[in-house]
Amino acid sequence: MNIERNDIAVITGGGSGLGKAFGEEAARRGMRVVIADIEKDSMKQTVEELREQGATAIGVHTDVTDSASVEALSETVADRFGIPNLVFNNAGVASGGPIWESTEKDWKWVCAVNVDGVANGVRTFTPRMLEAAKKDPRYKGCVVNTASMAGLVTAPGMGIYSVSKHAVIALSECLYHDLELMGDQVTTAVLCPSYVTTNISQSYRNRPADLANDKGPTKAQLATQAISSKDLANGSLSAAEVARITFEAIGNGRFYIYPSPELLPIVKNRLDHIAHGTNPDIPYDEIPMFKERRDQLQAALSN
Ligand SMILES: NC(=O)c1ccc[n+]([C@@H]2O[C@H](COP(=O)([O-])OP(=O)(O)OC[C@H]3O[C@@H](n4cnc5c(N)ncnc54)[C@H](O)[C@@H]3O)[C@@H](O)[C@H]2O)c1
Repeated sequence: MNIERNDIAVITGGGSGLGKAFGEEAARRGMRVVIADIEKDSMKQTVEELREQGATAIGVHTDVTDSASVEALSETVADRFGIPNLVFNNAGVASGGPIWESTEKDWKWVCAVNVDGVANGVRTFTPRMLEAAKKDPRYKGCVVNTASMAGLVTAPGMGIYSVSKHAVIALSECLYHDLELMGDQVTTAVLCPSYVTTNISQSYRNRPADLANDKGPTKAQLATQAISSKDLANGSLSAAEVARITFEAIGNGRFYIYPSPELLPIVKNRLDHIAHGTNPDIPYDEIPMFKERRDQLQAALSN
């Protein structure tokens, strides 16, 4: 779709990392920007920074796990600006380690933000966007869901995060097929970044108290956190670069958005095993990052 000046962008998780970068890119393109986040201070700070750059921006305190909160967000956007053209269902949190060590509360928290959060955004905004399309043949909209390369591959210690991101890929593909039945004014895209340096390794900062674990992390979970933090710190692309690639891809009507296409052979390797019915087998020697992850996790598990 053509992204026009004055178009409206709503970004969940817009107060930090990738979401903040989407806000900055949207502002650079003259869009009106809505930052929706559970973390009030970073949300306010981001809105102030966007306004200082001359953008029209507002912040709406939102918890994506709560459908009423997302509904209230869409009403505020409609009252203040109108029906959004770009909806970024981007808020997300991370948790890893051997999958049998994740607690029930880990599952509830990660799936609530990463899966229910996207579903709430899709369910709330898509009908309004389709309605806007019916009323105005010039209206264009796109629902952009942030998944991850972890939604396309599996590896040791990726745990619930990988499960949740696979769900976001499936949800987005289903949305794509369903929207195709409705014409071409409202589309969808799914973003699959690899490691980007953001604040995701401190996701626990927004974990609700009632979903806090009773015990601290296990050795294997700590090992996974350490290796993930290292990989995140070494991310080859900045959040700003991922945002630029994402907006360009939306402009070109691309569904799958791959900021790090050099990793696609790992996806093909996995899909080949699925298609041939052969057992999962990661080509570790070709992916030092995964090899290190496996080795560190194995060392922690054998201690
Ligand atoms: N950083 C990476 O390497 C990477 C790679 C692939 C995918 N992603 C995905 O990118 C998205 C953004 O993450 P990020 O890396 O920018 O991390 P981040 O921690 O910097 O930003 C995430 C934002 O989501 C917000 N958030 C958390 N829970 C929320 C809730 N319940 N309601 C509303 N907002 C909430 C946080 O306050 C924060 O502002 C996530 O979906 C993440 O899974 C990140």
